[in-house]
Amino acid sequence: MGTLPFMLFSLKFLLFSIQISSETDIITQFHSLHDGSTLTNGAFELGFFSPGSSTNRYVGIWFKNVPIKTVVWVANRNHPIQDKSGTLSISKEGNIVLQSKNGTNHWSTNITTKVSTSNLVAGLLGSGNFVLTDEKDNRDSGFYLWQSFDYPTDTILPGMKFGWNLTSRFNRRLTAWNNWDDPSSGQITYGFIKSDLPESKIQNGSSVIYRSGPFNGLRFGATQKLKHVPLFIVDFVYKTDEYYFHYQPKDPSLLSRIVINQTVSALQRFIWVEENQKWILYLNVPRDECDNYNRCSSFGICAMIGKSSMCECLSGFTPKSPQNWSVKDWSQGCMRNENWRCREKNKDGFIKFQNVKVPDTKKSWISKSMTLETCKVKCWENCSCTAYANSNITGNGSGCIIWFSDLLDMRQLPDSGQDLYVRSSAIETTNRDDSRKRMVVVTSTTCSIIVILFLFIIVFCWRRKAKSKFRGGWTCKNTTSTSKLVIESKNDSVKYLE
Ligand SMILES: *[C@@H]1O[C@H](CO)[C@@H](O)[C@H](O)[C@H]1NC(C)=O
Ligand SMILES: *[C@@H]1O[C@H](CO)[C@@H](O)[C@H](O)[C@H]1NC(C)=O
Ligand SMILES: *[C@@H]1O[C@H](CO)[C@@H](O)[C@H](O)[C@H]1NC(C)=O
Ligand SMILES: *[C@@H]1O[C@H](CO)[C@@H](O)[C@H](O)[C@H]1NC(C)=O
Ligand SMILES: *[C@@H]1O[C@H](CO)[C@@H](O)[C@H](O)[C@H]1NC(C)=O
Ligand SMILES: *[C@@H]1O[C@H](CO)[C@@H](O)[C@H](O)[C@H]1NC(C)=O
Ligand SMILES: *[C@@H]1O[C@H](CO)[C@@H](O)[C@H](O)[C@H]1NC(C)=O
Ligand SMILES: *[C@@H]1O[C@H](CO)[C@@H](O)[C@H](O)[C@H]1NC(C)=O
Ligand SMILES: *[C@@H]1O[C@H](CO)[C@@H](O)[C@H](O)[C@H]1NC(C)=O
Repeated sequence: MGTLPFMLFSLKFLLFSIQISSETDIITQFHSLHDGSTLTNGAFELGFFSPGSSTNRYVGIWFKNVPIKTVVWVANRNHPIQDKSGTLSISKEGNIVLQSKNGTNHWSTNITTKVSTSNLVAGLLGSGNFVLTDEKDNRDSGFYLWQSFDYPTDTILPGMKFGWNLTSRFNRRLTAWNNWDDPSSGQITYGFIKSDLPESKIQNGSSVIYRSGPFNGLRFGATQKLKHVPLFIVDFVYKTDEYYFHYQPKDPSLLSRIVINQTVSALQRFIWVEENQKWILYLNVPRDECDNYNRCSSFGICAMIGKSSMCECLSGFTPKSPQNWSVKDWSQGCMRNENWRCREKNKDGFIKFQNVKVPDTKKSWISKSMTLETCKVKCWENCSCTAYANSNITGNGSGCIIWFSDLLDMRQLPDSGQDLYVRSSAIETTNRDDSRKRMVVVTSTTCSIIVILFLFIIVFCWRRKAKSKFRGGWTCKNTTSTSKLVIESKNDSVKYLE
């Protein structure tokens, strides 16, 4: 009778071995990995490498069949090994450890669970996840004693959970490499912040570069609606004990990665295009000038006009420095018109703004059960309240966010923003179309200027072309066609992590 469990155990072990390709492709207490050999599985390879022109040795994971060495995970990013004496093994305590010749520890996992170490197996999964398991566990349950997917470096791979475990207060974040030659922790980070509503930020140290906007039940505030059938299935899971973002390409053979890039301070999604043997930039965040954090300062709202951004004060507000504002220095922001009086009839009210990315929720209060009507009352009663909105825009909307003090980092999002009710003097409330008219005027004058410029360029090119027939040399060429693939794929925008 005792053979049945044993057979099941052997079967599981066999399945696991197949899953991690072959038995030599695992690390056990009796089998370590030395510099020079690697573990491989599917599209991925784990081993020792030196980045760029550096001679330092690191343990990392990269794409096996991509000729441009693309590292997706680094174990000892801040503790390089100076020579080729590195060894990755399982310690007596049951942790994966990276040591060099004289026994110096360069990196290790941090397991506190008591396990029988002789049963421990570390291996690379086909997803690019490096895992430590107890042989006797059921691998299908996805339970790992430790997994590299929980400790991302600068890259999110398909299948990875990116976000918070709210029970253990554990957050998975990205930190950029310092440069091509140096994977050590850089200044630029990306991750979900600690907040009542899920929201992610790109930061340079402690200063914010980009804010996704809070999750509003359908998507993150700053992202746009799907326009095309995307290449990826993107999902945001929001439960009481955890929330995370994850994604999978629809075509499982497509290689892709999301990486935080220090050189351009941006979060980028790349896909590997086999024919071109190139990583193609599929998405870049911040996408435009209005995505840059707090572009228009307090009570300013950003709108994209063509490729450049334009700031406006919310109606009921005027520029703090009209001179600076008129020369597009928006850094001082806007202030309330003088005729506002808190809770005074005809001098206090709310203006509804549609299709906006809601302000930074740093100084806000949230109730997930309150209705919009009670939300309004709650805001009205408190003189420091400056705006309110639904926290969940699903269906007819529910929940309540109210903001205190200055409203920062708002933008116009023509087809995906939400309604925001901004506190203002009631006089303004009746003239709510004013700002829209102003915007239209600005837009139409800008358009006219663009059209005139464009005509001018055409005439100029035409004349140059006519001349160049005789002289040779410079001509006006249509250069956009070469980058068509990139531009097209960028339009293929994805719901969440834009
Ligand atoms: C190992 O070598 C490094 C660098 O040469 C040195 O800093 C370290 O103290 C040595 N460790 C031991 C345990 O000898
Ligand atoms: C391991 O965990 C302990 C306690 O949680 C922590 O103090 C330590 O910094 C961790 N070490 C590493 C290498 O993560
Ligand atoms: C969160 O972390 C705790 C402690 O590490 C763990 O027991 C739990 O399973 C985790 N929750 C999820 C949803 O992964
Ligand atoms: C990040 O901040 C540092 C100083 O805090 C600055 O020197 C550096 O230029 C900033 N980098 C970017 C990309 O903004
Ligand atoms: C948003 O509201 C919808 C419908 O009321 C509900 O099903 C959903 O769970 C809510 N989402 C969040 C994140 O609260
Ligand atoms: C960073 O972005 C630039 C510009 O898009 C790109 O050329 C470069 O390869 C990126 N770096 C990494 C490490 O992906
Ligand atoms: C206008 O901008 C200049 C230069 O940035 C600054 O010195 C000045 O204080 C600004 N004016 C006001 C009223 O803030
Ligand atoms: C208004 O809200 C602020 C921030 O939550 C709070 O500190 C203050 O006590 C409130 N004032 C009143 C009158 O409720
Ligand atoms: C949404 O509002 C409309 C119109 O007020 C109403 O007919 C509908 O029943 C509401 N839907 C929900 C789910 O409350």
